[in-house]
Amino acid sequence: MAPVDRRAVLAGAVAATLAPRPAPAAGACPAAPVRPSLATLASQRGILFGMGLTASALQQLPRLRAVALAESGMLVPGIELKWAQVEPQPGRFDFAPADRILDEARQAGLKARGHALLWHEALPAEVAQTRSPAAMAALVRTHIRTVCARYAGLLHSWDVVNEAIEPGPDRPQGLRRTPFFEALGEGYIDRAFALAAEADASAILTLNEYDLELDTPWHASRRAAMLELLNRLVRRNVPVRALGIQGHLAPGRPGVLKPEIFAAFLRDVASLGLTIFITEFDVVDRDLPAPVPQRDAAAAQAARDYLAVALAEPAVTALVTWGVSDADNWVDGNDQFRRRDGLPARPNPYDDAYCPKPLRGAIADALRAAPDRRVR
Ligand code: XIL
Repeated sequence: MAPVDRRAVLAGAVAATLAPRPAPAAGACPAAPVRPSLATLASQRGILFGMGLTASALQQLPRLRAVALAESGMLVPGIELKWAQVEPQPGRFDFAPADRILDEARQAGLKARGHALLWHEALPAEVAQTRSPAAMAALVRTHIRTVCARYAGLLHSWDVVNEAIEPGPDRPQGLRRTPFFEALGEGYIDRAFALAAEADASAILTLNEYDLELDTPWHASRRAAMLELLNRLVRRNVPVRALGIQGHLAPGRPGVLKPEIFAAFLRDVASLGLTIFITEFDVVDRDLPAPVPQRDAAAAQAARDYLAVALAEPAVTALVTWGVSDADNWVDGNDQFRRRDGLPARPNPYDDAYCPKPLRGAIADALRAAPDRRVR
């Protein structure tokens, strides 16, 4: 879209002093940040609001950076702390891209969270192919110790294990057959949390997961597996302190958000003494209508419905969006989630011209409506 000509905008404003302000032309967004920011609205309820982004977007898209810094209380590296990025070959570490985001957060006085120590995707080939328990244990030990020690004391929280659940007929515990699981069994989770706790005593150690919210049998089996796993971990005194719920909404796909089902799950998790974070919130618009006004309205409605339930649970204390502006979104890079009509995805609170979208309004309204965690 064409850049905004600020002089033309000002001239228009002068001409319109006696008339009602004309609606801004498409692409003409307020240059000043929207106030109060999402971080401010969240903090007024005792909630931490953050945004996930990448080091390259931060560097190459100054307007994205400005929005992220204006809206967030926390930044999350979207890819830079995944194993393949931070340790591309066993024993060879590259912290530079992650540091760019974490330094930016520190300079702006924002918190930061780590994502993710163990995940079955974004693994170096050597790790993915390792089957020997001793060799895998050594790889995991070096990885977690080194990465956690590097950022010890600096992070709000760490996703220690990401996407551990994947029920199936041959999987009595509902655990995903990751390379870690194949080599070490369920104990890989205990080990990962213990190593992270040893290296960083202050980050809130989190188990992060998706597809836990809807009324389908698939989501129900994932919820059951997750609750059973959390129960076992808590019973074994594994230092897991939070459940991260990714929160990639996908309205139009099978399944309905039944508030009582989602709320009961959140309650069950909270009753184990755990905190809950919504860690990767966005709206995958693959199955929404093409026209932008309808698409954005439907995405905002899905967000309203979801956040009304999620933020009503006082154990939910952080909300992170998995992006800032549609100009840089992960959905278009994902075969499963990109639109079939070829239109660019619109999953984020700001559009590709950095205008706040109805989704941003839905998040703001949900934060305003949330019960205050500070008075308990
Ligand atoms: C995505 C990133 O946003 C993309 O840039 C990358 O290409 C693939 O991974 N669940 C997760 C995130 O836990 O790590 C994923 O992030 C999105 C799904």
